[in-house]
Amino acid sequence: MKTYKIAVIPGDGVGPEVLKEGMKVLKQAAECSGAFSFEDTWFPWGCGYYLEHGQMMPGDGIRILEGFDAIYLGAVGDPRVPDHISLWDLLLKIRKSFDQYVNLRPVKLLRGAPCPLKDAAREDIHMTFIRENSEGEYAGSGSWLFKGKPNEVVIQDGVFSRTGCERIIRYAFETARKEKRSLTSISKANALNYSMVFWDQIFQELSAEYPDVETHSYLVDAASMFMVKDPSRFQVVVTSNLFGDILTDLGAAIAGGMGLAAGANLNPERKYPSMFEPIHGSAPDIAGRGIANPMASVWAASQMLDFFGHEDWGTRVLEALEAVLEDGRILTPDLGGTASTSQVGDAIARKLAEGGKG
Ligand code: NAD
Ligand code: IPM
Ligand code: MN
Repeated sequence: MKTYKIAVIPGDGVGPEVLKEGMKVLKQAAECSGAFSFEDTWFPWGCGYYLEHGQMMPGDGIRILEGFDAIYLGAVGDPRVPDHISLWDLLLKIRKSFDQYVNLRPVKLLRGAPCPLKDAAREDIHMTFIRENSEGEYAGSGSWLFKGKPNEVVIQDGVFSRTGCERIIRYAFETARKEKRSLTSISKANALNYSMVFWDQIFQELSAEYPDVETHSYLVDAASMFMVKDPSRFQVVVTSNLFGDILTDLGAAIAGGMGLAAGANLNPERKYPSMFEPIHGSAPDIAGRGIANPMASVWAASQMLDFFGHEDWGTRVLEALEAVLEDGRILTPDLGGTASTSQVGDAIARKLAEGGKG
């Protein structure tokens, strides 16, 4: 039996509350399968750790994580620690250190999930967002000149390398080919006259290698408008780091809310561990009350099973989640219910168990 070693980093705010349920569901899937199991090691890293030790994780944190098959992360962020410190020293550090250059974020309206678009049919909202996750606007380089002077200037670089653009766009073409769906590139070459002109050029070049994949290209402003007005236009979508960040929160809003939006940070070559997480933050406004929706974390767990090659169990986890949503009796307040985080986790695990053994 294969045992997967999972590094669990619950992090801050609602992170620990939702990951506990995600791990519960993963373990239930393992038990039902009889074919694999999980060995989870929990790391108390995050803002609490920072306030005590002056760093978000120990100095050898990345080396420790390297020995795991996957990382399961809750959320990072605490009003007592500046966000650019907490995020750059934990979440973004892991994405970068492990070259997790693919950020795979499903935007899919499940049965039973609320949608604010009054004319949209469920099937209209079914996108596979592929966000560049290693460079672009998140390169982390820039300069701060004449600090405190009247002529003060700050520059935040956007770094787009040929290697970086090609690998993410190629990954998107391969995904579209596999899913037999169209591929849309979202950029902004009318204003960003270096980075996005380059991005568009590479998209064009690669499209010649995939004549079987129908392609579309949108400017990001128009794309945001169409995601609301006519979401059925989008199937597989590839976009830069920052645009992908923003558009997937918009995606979450049309597909049931932040409590339902999951993401996988993949190193497709499997040279380093990949990381699975809900895309929401630490939600300080509801943290500590046991009412956060654990479904995004459960969905991320299903992505982990897919990535390990257990697509059958990934699908079953997602189906169990959808069954609980559709049933509608055990939902957290963000979905109009009165259930607690752990009641929702229990309900999904129970559904999975009812589905039987592999
Ligand atoms: P957020 O995602 O934490 O919260 C936005 C809104 O969504 C809030 O009203 C919150 O209550 C709600 N929400 C989020 N998750 C929910 C859940 N599981 N169930 C029900 N409702 C949920 O975004 P924010 O408020 O902009 O950020 C808070 C902190 O989290 C900041 O420090 C930010 O930098 C950080 N952050 C971290 C991550 C991450 O670790 N991956 C992602 C986004 C934001
Ligand atoms: C996300 C988050 C992060 C991002 C933040 C917290 C750095 O918003 O994963 O969507 O911008 O990538
Ligand atoms: Mn985000």
